[in-house]
Amino acid sequence: MSDFEDRAREAMANPQNVGEMDDADSVGTAGSSDCGDMLRMWLKFTEKDGKKVIDRASFQSFGCQTAIAVASMATELLKGKSVEDARKLSPDDLTGDLGPLPPMKIHCGQLVEGALHNALGEPREQKEEATAPSLAQSISNQRQGNIKIVPLDGDQA
Ligand code: FES
Repeated sequence: MSDFEDRAREAMANPQNVGEMDDADSVGTAGSSDCGDMLRMWLKFTEKDGKKVIDRASFQSFGCQTAIAVASMATELLKGKSVEDARKLSPDDLTGDLGPLPPMKIHCGQLVEGALHNALGEPREQKEEATAPSLAQSISNQRQGNIKIVPLDGDQA
């Protein structure tokens, strides 16, 4: 068992910031062409010293355990980061204490990075909320069958 797997297992045992954020300013979704997994991230901004910074971040993932562990770490370390600084974070930066991703898992980090960049680039008010598909709908549209669905706390209305 590698150190990475140990740390990922710990992060998975108690993932942080899971669930849709009702008052988010922005939302971003990314899908992996490698495995078909998808991840959505919500951001709430605030202002600090005249700069737009991330106040809170949350995520939902229909994907692998590594993507969930990375998203958990990433949503923690995004707090207080300016939008410019957040844009510069690489998948390895986003893994935080998990450490560098093993080669087979790099795309899992890229999935989190993709959702973050999507959220940073698309203000929520520009979206048609009523017609935006849910994450589950996006997935079933994209790919039928053979997908691993991870139940998320707080996602049951
Ligand atoms: Fe697809 Fe990890 S295996 S995101």
